Amino acid sequence: MKRIAISLAALTLGAVAAPLGALAEIAPGDVQFDDYGAVETSLTGSSGNADEGRKIMTEKSLGNCVSCHAAEAYADVPFHGEVGPWLDGAGSRWTEAELRGLVINPKKTFEGTVMPAFYKVDGFNRPGDAYTGKAAPADLPPILSAEQVEDVVAYLMTLKDE
Ligand code: HEC
Repeated sequence: MKRIAISLAALTLGAVAAPLGALAEIAPGDVQFDDYGAVETSLTGSSGNADEGRKIMTEKSLGNCVSCHAAEAYADVPFHGEVGPWLDGAGSRWTEAELRGLVINPKKTFEGTVMPAFYKVDGFNRPGDAYTGKAAPADLPPILSAEQVEDVVAYLMTLKDE
């Protein structure tokens, strides 16, 4: 049954995901969080590329994590915000599963946080839906792709203490 549910969801999202060749990916609506907001399974089924993850985190057009998080590890990147905690040592404070959960949807770990969910397509209040009382159509792609989430997690895991 679970298999069937997953392939149905994959079909629904196929229009978005198929051009990226992302058939084995876990779709945003199928992510399984544990009670503390961690996600054990890689969204792509493999580990990410830490170098790509650093780019995604520090380039404004991508993850733009630097607008809220500073770190010694990327002190060469200008315009750090400090709304969120410094990320040095994040790879020691958190497990890979916890970091994955944080990037996918930090609200599962920190209720009411201002940090955005980077792999989520529903549950947003969108312009145009506000007065209709209808659910927003699930047609916006997530901010980061499954592969980009795994790249970011791989980079965060390199930010160890000492
Ligand atoms: C709008 C600001 C904002 C953005 C953008 C943002 N974060 Fe956060 N983040 C926060 C805040 C605030 C917290 C602290 C949690 C809380 O109490 O709300 C946090 C917490 C975290 C933590 C846990 C910190 C710790 O204690 O070690 C990690 C890891 C993290 N963010 C990673 C990221 C990554 C990776 C990105 C980009 C893909 C990102 N954040 C983008 C605001 C942000």
